[in-house]
Amino acid sequence: MTISSGAIGVFDSGVGGLSVLHHIRQALPNQCLIYVADSAHVPYGGKSPDYIGQRSHTLTRFLIERGADAIVIACNTATAAAATGLRSQFGIPIVGMEPAVKPAVAATQSGVVGVLATIGTLESARFAALLDKYAGEIEIVTQGCPGLVEQVERGELSGARTRELIERYTAPLLARGADILILGCTHYPFLAPLIREVVGANITLVDTGAAVAHQLQRRIHSELPHRLQGEASAQFFTSGDAEQAARIMSLLWSGNVAVRQLPQAFL
Ligand code: DGL
Repeated sequence: MTISSGAIGVFDSGVGGLSVLHHIRQALPNQCLIYVADSAHVPYGGKSPDYIGQRSHTLTRFLIERGADAIVIACNTATAAAATGLRSQFGIPIVGMEPAVKPAVAATQSGVVGVLATIGTLESARFAALLDKYAGEIEIVTQGCPGLVEQVERGELSGARTRELIERYTAPLLARGADILILGCTHYPFLAPLIREVVGANITLVDTGAAVAHQLQRRIHSELPHRLQGEASAQFFTSGDAEQAARIMSLLWSGNVAVRQLPQAFL
């Protein structure tokens, strides 16, 4: 197997992290990227923090074995469950992500911000701490979205079932007066066109993909500056069915993507 030296390793429960990978490619165009979709274990949203912690550890070990010297947890749910543990176990830059509460609180006009995320993220201590730190006087209304991640995993970005779920999950937030909706799961930016259609033009949608890519860029500049002269490449792996993953990833990454299954020891 080809081992890349000095790659950026990125993982998510499935294909959602590709929404972050797009921003990483833009911010750091000449890097070797290795992406892992944990498709055999998606969704993470309803699973225990211990389970997600173990999967995150396994995927990080795989990425480091392949040559990654920086990791992006392209998943809000895995960041909430595992970022602290990964940082204490692996001595390389590990960039995680969390719902964009801080910018949303700064930008709301109505004083109400809606958060769409997985149950795992919304119930985490990390999310509670985020609200404590940034919500202030602003009312934060949260909404778990079971089923939405699965729609993205199937490549169903615009069908009737996806629309119906989006209508159901956004209606209570709009009824409370939210003028900003935080897309607090990396799968949801792929649904942004449909969410926009459902909620109308006056609602602002925010996510953290670009901010995460800039944070990674800063870390590479300061901690791994020799890496800035690299050559662009991208490799894709899944713990699930490689052919099925290739079909969806090609749709979301634009262009034909070759996907390999993870070695047995990491499944
Ligand atoms: N994409 C993930 C996130 O950002 C997790 C989705 C899931 O597997 O439930 O939270």
